[in-house]
Amino acid sequence: MTGQDRACGGGTSGQDRARGGGTSGQNAGAPLRACGLVKTFGGRPAVRDVSFEVGAGETLAIVGESGSGKSTTARMLVGLLRPDRGQVLLDGDDLARLRGRALRARRRDLQMVFQDPLGSLDPAMRVGASIAEPLLLHTALDAAARRDRVADLLRRVGLRPEHADRLPRAFSGGQRQRIAIARAIACDPRVLICDEPVSALDVSTQAQILGLLAGLRETTGFGCVFISHDLAVVRLVADRIGVMRGGELVELGPAEQIYTDPRHEYTRELVAAVPSLTARRAARTPCTNPKEVDG
Ligand SMILES: Nc1ncnc2c1ncn2[C@@H]1O[C@H](COP(=O)(O)OP(=O)(O)OP(=O)(O)O)[C@@H](O)[C@H]1O
Ligand SMILES: [Mg+2]
Repeated sequence: MTGQDRACGGGTSGQDRARGGGTSGQNAGAPLRACGLVKTFGGRPAVRDVSFEVGAGETLAIVGESGSGKSTTARMLVGLLRPDRGQVLLDGDDLARLRGRALRARRRDLQMVFQDPLGSLDPAMRVGASIAEPLLLHTALDAAARRDRVADLLRRVGLRPEHADRLPRAFSGGQRQRIAIARAIACDPRVLICDEPVSALDVSTQAQILGLLAGLRETTGFGCVFISHDLAVVRLVADRIGVMRGGELVELGPAEQIYTDPRHEYTRELVAAVPSLTARRAARTPCTNPKEVDG
């Protein structure tokens, strides 16, 4: 498996490779590396030996059918779930080995955006306070500096500073996702994990949020793991695509190769199931540039 080899180097198991210290040759610069992740629930494997890396400023999309293990993988990446085996390395640091202040410092570099923004926004908290929360936890900014930073973040996600005083219920789904993104990028994370961030939105709002993420990635340089069940959505943001099935990463490659020359039979089925992709493929239309997406 080319992608898995690329993530952790060599032909040994993820664990063995990762034990080498997190600096294996050409991949040493990737901020995030998942090495041989395994998770089983009640004897049923949800994720089996999944490995990949995410470079700075790169978006790795993970696609696959419902139950294929995408969210379980994401939850292990951000530490919401402990892997049974394998490691998550952030700039070479094994997060499972860190404790206390060192762990908190690394956690700020790895943030998550969920499908339902209310999952990360307290409905009773004004959005300014929600966005400021990670700043309070992870930085030494005083109240005035936090207010300025919140105003700046709101502008960067296409909202206005005065929106800070409102509650989440005053916003549309797309606006709430913008607020969740502002909170996630508040401390300039190295990597953003987005689990189906646009799946609950209508198509035009989806395009706007995808454009926003692409623009932010360009200006801030975070690496991004973008999870979706929708290959057409992923086309707008992915540099590389990993395809999951039954807890396994069955194929991992450059986005254009996945669309035009899928190697695994399951990937071929997925691509064939999206008529707009096969039509573009026939016309040899180049992959959409994220910069062209309306933000
Ligand atoms: N906390 C849990 N307890 C028991 N089983 C779980 C738990 N979380 C996930 N699973 C199981 O693990 C498998 C993978 O689930 P996961 O949520 O990772 O899939 P997914 O690819 O994100 O699916 P979807 O596209 O529906 O979000 C499924 O069989 C699911 O039922
Ligand atoms: Mg999921």
